[in-house]
Amino acid sequence: MVDLSTSIAGVHLPNLLFNASGVCCQTTDDLKQMQDSASGSLITKSATCAQREGNPSPRYVPLPTGSINSMGLPNEGYQYYLDYAKSYDYSSPKPLFISLSGLSLAENKTMCEAFVAAKLPCVLEINFSCPNVPGKPQLGYDMEAMEAALNTLAPILRQPFGIKLPPYFDIAHFDAAAAIFNKFDDLAYVTCINSVGNGLAIDFETETALIKPKDGFGGLGGFMVLNTALANVNAFHRRLPTKKVIGVGGVTSGKEVFLHVLAGASAVQIGTTLKEEGPAVFARILKELEEIMEKKGYTSLEDFRGKVKTL
Ligand code: FUM
Repeated sequence: MVDLSTSIAGVHLPNLLFNASGVCCQTTDDLKQMQDSASGSLITKSATCAQREGNPSPRYVPLPTGSINSMGLPNEGYQYYLDYAKSYDYSSPKPLFISLSGLSLAENKTMCEAFVAAKLPCVLEINFSCPNVPGKPQLGYDMEAMEAALNTLAPILRQPFGIKLPPYFDIAHFDAAAAIFNKFDDLAYVTCINSVGNGLAIDFETETALIKPKDGFGGLGGFMVLNTALANVNAFHRRLPTKKVIGVGGVTSGKEVFLHVLAGASAVQIGTTLKEEGPAVFARILKELEEIMEKKGYTSLEDFRGKVKTL
C-alpha cells in the first residue's frame, strides 16, 4: 500500500491530484464532477470581479502533443465562487481551492477582502499568469508589479495563500522571482506552470490559425510543456525552502506525476488531459502512480519528493 496524501497551505489532501484551474471548474455542475471524481482536491476557475464570457470561439483546440487555448477568463464572477465556497461541505476530505485573477490590483484587492471577510476554510490562490486577456500582460513577468501586488494583498489575506505563476525561462528570472516570494511568510505555495503563453498553432492545409482570439496566439499546455513545467517546479523547490510547489503541465499518466514529485511538487494538477479524458482521469493516473511507486519501493511521496539526481 502506498500513501498518496499530501498537504498544501496547512490543509490535508487525501491524494496529490486535482484539476488545473480552467478545466472542469467554471460552474457548480463542473465542480460537482470534480467532487465526485477520485481527485484529492478541487480548484475553481480563476474569477474576476464581474462575470465574463471570455474570448470568441474557437478558443481551445487539442494538438497532437497537447493543446492551445485563449479562453480569456470566462467565469461567473467572484460572487458566484464566494457563494459556492460558503455552501461547500468542509467535512469533505477534499479541501477547496479558490482561484482569483483580477484584471487589476484593485480587483484582486476587492476579491481578497470579500473572501477574507467570509472567514472560510478554503485556500486562496491568486493567478498572476493568465496570458489570454487582450491588453493585459501577465503580472508574473513584471517583477516590480508582482512584488507591489504581494505587498498589497498579503496584509489583507493574513493566512496561507498561493500564487499561480507563468513559466520562467532564465535562471536570473527564477532567482529574482524567488527573492520576492521569500519575503512573504504567508505565501505558502507557488503553482508552476500556467500555460506557455502566446504560442501559435496553424493548420497546414488551410494555412489558418487554429484558434480565433489574438490572431491565433494562445497558451500551450499538455505533454509538450512537461519539461518546462518540471524545470519551473524544481527551480522553485530549490529556491523556496519554506514553501511548497504545486506542479502543473504535461501530465498524461502516472509517470509524469512521478516526475513532478521527483522535481519537488507537493501536489500535481491536470489540465489538458482532464479536458480531453474527463474526470475519470484521476482514478487512472492515481492507479498508475501507485504501481510506479510500488515497483520502485516507495511508500509515500516524501520518499522521493525533490530527490531528482543531477550528474
Ligand atoms: O484564458 C484563460 O482563461 C486562461 C487563464 C489562465 O491561464 O490563467
